[in-house]
Amino acid sequence: MSLLIKGAALFGTETSDLLVVDGRIAAVGSDAASQAPAGVETLDADGLVALPGLVDLHTHLRQPGREDAETVLTGSQAAAVGGYTAVLAMANTTPVTDTAEAALRVWELGREAGLVDVQPVGAVTKGLAGEELAELGLMARSAARVRVFSDDGKCVHDARVMRRALEYVKAFGGVVSQHSQDPALAGPGACCHEGEVSGRLGLAGWPGIAEEVIVARDVMLAKHTGSRVHVAHVSSAGSIDVIRWAKAQGIDVTCEVTPHHLVLTTDLLVGYDPVYKVNPPLRPTEDVLALREALADGTIDAVATDHAPHARHDKEHAFVDAAFGMLGLETALGVVRTAMDDDFDWNDIARVMSRTPARIAGLDDHGGQLAPGEAAHVTLVDPTARVTVDRAASVSLSRNNPWHGHELTSRVVHTVFGGKVTVRDGALA
Ligand code: DOR
Repeated sequence: MSLLIKGAALFGTETSDLLVVDGRIAAVGSDAASQAPAGVETLDADGLVALPGLVDLHTHLRQPGREDAETVLTGSQAAAVGGYTAVLAMANTTPVTDTAEAALRVWELGREAGLVDVQPVGAVTKGLAGEELAELGLMARSAARVRVFSDDGKCVHDARVMRRALEYVKAFGGVVSQHSQDPALAGPGACCHEGEVSGRLGLAGWPGIAEEVIVARDVMLAKHTGSRVHVAHVSSAGSIDVIRWAKAQGIDVTCEVTPHHLVLTTDLLVGYDPVYKVNPPLRPTEDVLALREALADGTIDAVATDHAPHARHDKEHAFVDAAFGMLGLETALGVVRTAMDDDFDWNDIARVMSRTPARIAGLDDHGGQLAPGEAAHVTLVDPTARVTVDRAASVSLSRNNPWHGHELTSRVVHTVFGGKVTVRDGALA
């Protein structure tokens, strides 16, 4: 099976053809077309930017347990439409992904859907309870080859448990992705950033310091254990200071930011619209600007969506009662492109949305250079398109989309996963 991608600007620069044969890039350049077999399927990429397929370190697919909000199939569809070819599926499903069997099930569902690589994230602790380590080794040794472990949604708040987890995953090159949030520093019922806006609205909040103390503790534990820690959805400027310091010391820490934390601020909460309720919470403008700066200067390694679909009956409630989380897969690229200025070029986008997340997750087949021999995971983007987001047009099962009505720059036109066209002209193929 072969595919000829015609006239794409690789990483936004040199225009070239790409020939794909049997799922791999076979040739790149002006002579690629001449090597194509007769009757080859072609994809017109004139005027489009070619990137290696995007990789999301942080997706909630909700299966098993909450198939009313999303399934591995619908989440894979949303991922493909967003230009992704690999997603890391978070462990806070029902039941929790804390055994090899549970991880394998998610991995197999991903293969059945066949639209992106669905790589399960294993829980750090059994039932996300924060006490006993989950089957980390068995998950790692299973066919699903779990490498990223997270209790996301909850913080591994016990330092002893976190230390043991870091020691354990080191043995197989794994990483703990931490939801950094000290529960002792958040009041009961916390549901937004603690600050001027929460005071005015009478809502209980998480202060930035609740995140920062855990980030500080964890980088010291990573140093002590010689292991690797990843800070999930970093949201506070103070955390960035700690991570910048830790990296300068040579500590093995990486971090991700969500598209929403790069743009949306806590001021949006004045209307009590639960679509803006998310954990970690939307922060003030100072934090948002610090995150953008850190993404531009490389302190932040990756953009990850924290795609968190919720059924209407969980999300459309009074603010304090609504579920935490927002959709992100279909809009991530456009939001990042819109948030960052033009100095942040397509190579930077490829670095933070494909190459580095693939490296963090140990996905050797992703995040390549669009060079011959690599797996053919390719995202083709119209860099000049302007798209007004319509939540009704989403392929996700859920509708908690904070970008509804926003105009975003750029649009994913085609997605190619392992040589197969999964999205053509913006729609599932
Ligand atoms: O807003 C969030 N939603 N934050 C999390 O950490 C978990 C996620 C979810 O599972 O809905």
